[in-house]
Amino acid sequence: MNDYINNFLFTYFPYIALTIFFFGFITRLVKFNKTVQAESTQFLADNKVKLASNLFHVGIIFVFFGHLTLFLPEWLYHMVMTTETKRMIALSMGSFFGTMAFVGMAMLVFRRFGSPRMKQNSSFQDYFIIILLLAEIVIGLSAALKTATAPIETYAALGKWALAVVTFQPDAGLILANHPLQYKLHIVLGLFIFMIFPYTKLMHMLAFPYVYFLRSGYQLVRKRS
Ligand code: HEM
Repeated sequence: MNDYINNFLFTYFPYIALTIFFFGFITRLVKFNKTVQAESTQFLADNKVKLASNLFHVGIIFVFFGHLTLFLPEWLYHMVMTTETKRMIALSMGSFFGTMAFVGMAMLVFRRFGSPRMKQNSSFQDYFIIILLLAEIVIGLSAALKTATAPIETYAALGKWALAVVTFQPDAGLILANHPLQYKLHIVLGLFIFMIFPYTKLMHMLAFPYVYFLRSGYQLVRKRS
């Protein structure tokens, strides 16, 4: 990849994407908070939507937390495990939950394209988001496959790059200069998803009733019999 493009994508683009993310996130919450939702379609086509949605959501939540381990510095995780062990855990958990998210999302894509009632009620954004996520999951899984066969340094460099970005190292992009294409595609598409996140229905994540877990009292209702 040309040096300029590599540098732009992996040194500067992360900051551009995150700035647009935070700007959109704050303005959407402050100015348009009533629009933060993803409209239910369960009444339009109920074909296995619960199963598909659960598979996708459970899978992607675990994959998301797995990604956070990219930011662990070597000196920290070396206290309890080697890079080899970390790679093995990342690969086994990542491929399990990544495949789960893939199966769920593939079912959701078929459902959206397959039902005439869904077609009538779907906007461009509905199609765009699910195809984008499906593509990102497939490329992510192919990156994980590469990690399984590539030298350990290829895997270790991914964490070094993530840390270099969050600590504002001016030559962060150099770390990925010779990495295989699937990693580069996955990271650029991932940053793009972050960038557009606040302007899409993905913001419905914030509408999850987290407070339910923190509620103090509740009423238990049982049948008399
Ligand atoms: C800036 C954002 C992102 C970065 C830097 C990133 C980075 C990575 C890397 C380096 C891997 C390979 C891990 C390995 O070799 O074990 C990976 C895997 C994966 N990514 Fe991402 N990713 C991003 C966003 C996303 C998003 C938005 C999704 C889903 C919509 C996603 C889904 C996956 C999946 C399913 C895998 C394979 C399973 C796994 O290893 O967890 N990623 N990602």
